[in-house]
Amino acid sequence: MKTVSNLDFDFGAWCAGHLHTVEQSLNAWVCAQASPHHDLSAPADLVHAMRYAVLDGGKRLRPLLVLAAWEAVSREASPTAPDLRDAALRAACATELIHAYSLVHDDMPCMDNDVLRRGKPTVHVKFGEAVALLAGDALQALAFELLTPEGDAMPVACQAQLCRLLSRAAGSSGMAGGQAIDLASVGLRLNERQLREMHRLKTGALLQASVMMGAACGGTSLGMREALAQYGAAIGLAFQVVDDILDVTADSATLGKTAGKDAHHDKPTYVSILGLQASRQYAQELHAQAMAALAQSGLRHTEALQGLADMVVQRSN
Ligand code: IPE
Ligand code: IPE
Ligand code: MG
Ligand code: MG
Ligand code: MG
Repeated sequence: MKTVSNLDFDFGAWCAGHLHTVEQSLNAWVCAQASPHHDLSAPADLVHAMRYAVLDGGKRLRPLLVLAAWEAVSREASPTAPDLRDAALRAACATELIHAYSLVHDDMPCMDNDVLRRGKPTVHVKFGEAVALLAGDALQALAFELLTPEGDAMPVACQAQLCRLLSRAAGSSGMAGGQAIDLASVGLRLNERQLREMHRLKTGALLQASVMMGAACGGTSLGMREALAQYGAAIGLAFQVVDDILDVTADSATLGKTAGKDAHHDKPTYVSILGLQASRQYAQELHAQAMAALAQSGLRHTEALQGLADMVVQRSN
């Protein structure tokens, strides 16, 4: 089956609508206020740091991938299938919480030692290292709390599957493992296979999981899941290739984070290993792979997933 290209689809409007919903949900779910049981400054600071890390910034790519995959898949489902819209929104916000936590820790002095993130001072600069560490921990815990609501809002099998996908993507065989390789690789010249593996883990795993979590809320055939996994893997790797490129080509004001820091820290990146031109070409190849996977998926409504793949390689920040 071929993907139908819907000329009426307005990707900008699609993003704007979903971004609004995601922002509102994050604002409501990330501890709207400090617990009334605490009047000491430390717990209040923790909540403020969590909100500072999550709200008012970020492209929200991972939540958009969850929602796009959920929509594409649920439009193929039978009319009697359960409507897991709320589960998809929870999954969308959970991926962003894990991502935000990973950024807080990534910026700390023991990792990349960065002072600027999303156009603001980093969390440890603003709140101190101990609060930044705990805010990251608490955001990770909150992600899993969102996926396991009380009552019958979400079937327990769906809760378990979402927790499994997210925990694998975040842990030692996903983001945390990739970050460990990143830190251990400073000053080394990795070969292309090693670099690909590092990027697949530290960044690709969570992006791919975002796609698969959306799909899990919609009910899919095995063929669709495999095609979406390929799409997620391709854009997940493309995303970090472009991040490496932008570190060299963009300025800090555009990025909202410090430009040029990979070379400064002597990190192996696609640019340092392949050069700028070949890195750009590789990002385009991965984009083409993602599009081919969608075309093979059997899904008829992949416009938003296509738009997000474009965004991954064409973005300026
Ligand atoms: C930056 O991610 C860190 C990487 C995984 C490369 P994003 O570029 O998605 O950061 P925000 O969420 O838009 O700030
Ligand atoms: C970080 O990669 C990936 C994460 C898991 C947070 P980078 O260290 O390249 O991300 P930036 O450039 O600081 O956003
Ligand atoms: Mg890093
Ligand atoms: Mg960094
Ligand atoms: Mg980077």
